Amino acid sequence: MAYLLENNIYCGDSVELMKEIKPKSIALAFWSPPYFLGKDYEQNATYESWQKLLRNVIKLHFDVLKPGGFLVINIADILSFKDEKMPKIMGLNPSSRKCQVTKEMILEMLRKNPRMNKYQLAEAFNCSEQTIDRRLNGNNIRGGKYETGTHVKEVGGNLETYASEAGLYLYDVRIWQKDPAWNNSKWTTNTLKAVSEFEYLYVFWKPGNYIVNRARLTDEEWREWGYRQIWNIASVRANNEHPAMFPKELARRVIRLYSDEDEIVLDPFLGSGTTALAAIEAKRQFIGIELMEKYALLAKKKISMALISPPLDI
Ligand SMILES: C[S@@+](CC[C@H](N)C(=O)[O-])C[C@H]1O[C@@H](n2cnc3c(N)ncnc32)[C@H](O)[C@@H]1O
Repeated sequence: MAYLLENNIYCGDSVELMKEIKPKSIALAFWSPPYFLGKDYEQNATYESWQKLLRNVIKLHFDVLKPGGFLVINIADILSFKDEKMPKIMGLNPSSRKCQVTKEMILEMLRKNPRMNKYQLAEAFNCSEQTIDRRLNGNNIRGGKYETGTHVKEVGGNLETYASEAGLYLYDVRIWQKDPAWNNSKWTTNTLKAVSEFEYLYVFWKPGNYIVNRARLTDEEWREWGYRQIWNIASVRANNEHPAMFPKELARRVIRLYSDEDEIVLDPFLGSGTTALAAIEAKRQFIGIELMEKYALLAKKKISMALISPPLDI
């Protein structure tokens, strides 16, 4: 069987193409999958089909990874997971009320005029009947009656389950702390929720010998990020090329920590080609797979330019 070639980008479905990778040839796989957020490349995904994709792709890693090899997945929890079953109750925020009518004021009016209906009450208080409803029912309905409620959906537990089914072990967890892009915006929320500022790096290990090569990083790099669990790296602000690129610095760190020069790094969700670019710069080989032709072409273009110019010394 002809295997996929190193230093190439393949356009297609990873679930099919990963079967064509030479067994035990990959030292490190590093990728960031679709996050189930409705991007252009996940339009037809259901939560179940998305989980199935992750489970299948993780499973295929066992055969292609070298014994002792690593699979590093960058992912974030779904902060706004739509759930039809979620009670549609939103926190009260009296300070943001446009209308200062309180429940007590309405009850007082009803004590004096027990026959008043909500329309008459609305007229008396110069507000809408919805305001009367909300005050009397003691809650707001998130985004109106027909909007589905949302909650946080944790994803890491599922990845660990899929990895352990596949024979891979959770070896470490790191946090990518993104820049506080929100500093520059006027973003506020009418909930008690925080803004999104970090993502996970889950490190899975295929049992087998692995090398702890101290020479991969300088002493300063080990101190600054090699030993550190939280990596502070600015996110990619411009997304005109691809809607969900991770920063090259993230790929660069993962590649330099978990692989040696000339080893093969795989990214089966290559997107715009960031992992391949970082692999070239770190003098590793790469194999990239991307489903959408426009992104595979973009990655190919970037990589051919990087291959022409000599790799940077890092
Ligand atoms: C989060 S993006 C990766 C972005 C990439 N790390 C970068 O920096 O550009 C996920 C990518 O996976 C691709 N993808 C989705 N399903 C796929 C599949 N079954 N096989 C291969 N690629 C897929 C999407 O088209 C998308 O470009």
